[in-house]
Amino acid sequence: MEYLQIRGRRPLTGTCAVGGAKNAALPLMAAALMIPGETVLRNVPDLSDVEVMASLLRSFGVSVKRQGDAVVIDASAPSGGEVPSSLTGMLRASTLLLAPALDRFGEVALAPAGGCRIGERPVDLHLRGMSALGASFDEGGGVIRGKRQRRRAAAICLDYPSVGATENIVMAAVRARGRTVLKNAAAEPEIDDLCRFLNGRGAKIAREGNTVIIDGVTSLSGGEYTVLPDRVVGGTALLAAAAVGGDVTVTNVGTDQLAAVASKLAETSAEVTAAEHSLRVRRSGALCGADLRTMPYPGFPTDLQPPFTAAMTVAEGTSVIREEVFENRLGFCDELVKFGAGIRRGGGPAVVRGVESLRGADVRAEDLRGGAALTVAALAAEGESRVFGLRYIDRGYEAIETMFAALGGDIVRRSTEEGA
Ligand code: EPZ
Repeated sequence: MEYLQIRGRRPLTGTCAVGGAKNAALPLMAAALMIPGETVLRNVPDLSDVEVMASLLRSFGVSVKRQGDAVVIDASAPSGGEVPSSLTGMLRASTLLLAPALDRFGEVALAPAGGCRIGERPVDLHLRGMSALGASFDEGGGVIRGKRQRRRAAAICLDYPSVGATENIVMAAVRARGRTVLKNAAAEPEIDDLCRFLNGRGAKIAREGNTVIIDGVTSLSGGEYTVLPDRVVGGTALLAAAAVGGDVTVTNVGTDQLAAVASKLAETSAEVTAAEHSLRVRRSGALCGADLRTMPYPGFPTDLQPPFTAAMTVAEGTSVIREEVFENRLGFCDELVKFGAGIRRGGGPAVVRGVESLRGADVRAEDLRGGAALTVAALAAEGESRVFGLRYIDRGYEAIETMFAALGGDIVRRSTEEGA
C-alpha cells in the first residue's frame, strides 16, 4: 500500500505552474460525446478520475486516446448502451454524461454515482432542469433511465447554483429548439470553460452574471480546446505556504479564479501579492486565525476549505469554519486532530484553536480534499508523518508529492512493501 512519508516544518519556496483543471476536464470530456467528430482536449491532467471518465466514454463506443498532455476523443459513431455501474460508482462526475447521452442517443441508463463521504450528492436539480428541456426520467432499481421526448427550450431557475446541474442543463439546451434562459446558474470558472468549448464547436451560449442564455443550434463540429489551469491545485499550494511558512508563487492562476482565497489569506496576515493570472504567498511571521464560510463562486470555494482549515490549526487565535456547500465536508478534522490540532466539532461549524506546532502522525485520507489537508498539516508538523489513502488524493492531484518536493518539502511516495 502506498503512502506519503513527510518530514515537516521545511519552508516551501519557489514557483509552480499548475496543470489542467480536473473539474473542467471532466465536463469537457463528457461534452465531447455530443460531437460527431474528433475532439482534441489539451492540458488534460493525468488523474484517476480522468481515466475513469475515459472508460465511461469507451463504454459508449467512443474512442479515447491519451497523447502526451492531450486526450483525443472520437465520437463519430458511438454505440450508446448502458454504462456499467462498476464505473459510474467510481466517479461522481459520471452524472455529467446524462445530457450528452440523451442528446446523442435519445436515451440513457446510468447508475447514479450516489453519495460519498462529503455529502449525499443528489441529482434532483439536474433531472428537473433536463425534464424542462423535454427529457423524462425514472430512477427505479438504482439506475437513472432517461428518454429525450423532444428538444424544447425552457426558462429554468435553479433552486441552488449547482455546478453539475448547470453543466448538464447547458449541454441539454445546446441543441434545443429556441432560447433557453437558465437563472441562478453556477458561475464557477470551469463552467465558462465548458461554454467556451461548446461555442467553439458551434453552440450559442452567453452568460449575463448568474444567468446563462443558450440559443439552440442544429449541429456541432469537432475541434481542439485547451483546459484551463486548476485553481484548486494552485490554491492548495498557496495555502500550504501559509501553513508551513515560506514564499510560493503560482504562476498561472490568479485573482481571475482565486480572488476569495487571496482575500482570506490576506486576512490571516500572510503576505499576498495578487495579480490577475498569478498569486504569491509569503509567510514568515505568525499566522492569524480567520473565520471561513464556503459559498458558491465567487465565494470561498468548498474544495479549498480543507487545506485552509489545516492552515488554521497553526494560526494564532480561534477560527470558525462553516462548510455551507457539502453537509459532511469537515470529516477530515477527525484525522487532523491526530497531529495535535485543537479542533472542536459539533454538528455545525468546526472551531479551530491554533497551536504552536503540530506533531508528526500517521493519518489516513478518506476523501480527495481532506487528503490534501492532511498532506498540508504533515508538511507543517514537527517530525515525521505518513499519509495513507493516496487513491483519494490521486483523484485530484497529479503526484502531489512532486509539487511539494519541488517547493522544498521533504515528501516522498513510499509503499509498505518497500523494506517494511
Ligand atoms: C462540483 O461538484 C465539483 N466537481 C466539486 O469538486 C465541487 O466541490 C462542487 O462542484 C462545488 O463547487 C466537479 O466539478 C466534477 P454542486 P457538484 O452540484 O457539481 C447540492 C472536488 O473535490 N445539489 O454544485 O456535485 C449538493 O448536494 C469536487 O474536486 C443538490 O441538492 O457540486 C451540494 O450540497 C468535490 N441537488 C451542493 O448542491 C442537485 O441536483 C453543491 O453541489 C445537485 C447538487
